[in-house]
Amino acid sequence: KNEDQSVTDRLHTICQLLKDKIDYYDWVGFYFKNEDKEELKLRTYVGAETDHVIIPFGKGICGQVAVSNENFVVPDVQAQDNYIACSFTVKSEIVIPLFKNGENIGQIDIDSETPNPFTEKDERFLEFVNQEVAKIL
Ligand code: SME
Repeated sequence: KNEDQSVTDRLHTICQLLKDKIDYYDWVGFYFKNEDKEELKLRTYVGAETDHVIIPFGKGICGQVAVSNENFVVPDVQAQDNYIACSFTVKSEIVIPLFKNGENIGQIDIDSETPNPFTEKDERFLEFVNQEVAKIL
């Protein structure tokens, strides 16, 4: 196994842990930027299968975070106009950018089937997760 695959395996384990331990985390994935193509690519995830492996910068919640460098908490996905629906059961979403050496290189994306479940505690916790992840990249 090469280095990239072992990192992906570790990211997958983190997704699995988060989904298993936090009941309102129903889909957990990591997207990373491909700066050349100005798009995000899904590296690994746990949850329902998704068609959105590639997301252009600016599109959807994920694409917006790729350019804003800011957390995006969506209590009600139906109230968002720039939103890419994955599953009709998803009610809410949180996307936290992942910084390496101060640069936004990707993000953790979590979907929930619970309406409005995410608080500042989730933001602080997921910022911490991303900081730890940055160390293994
Ligand atoms: N809902 C996201 C698309 C990715 S799926 O949640 C896996 C968005 O609007 O960017």
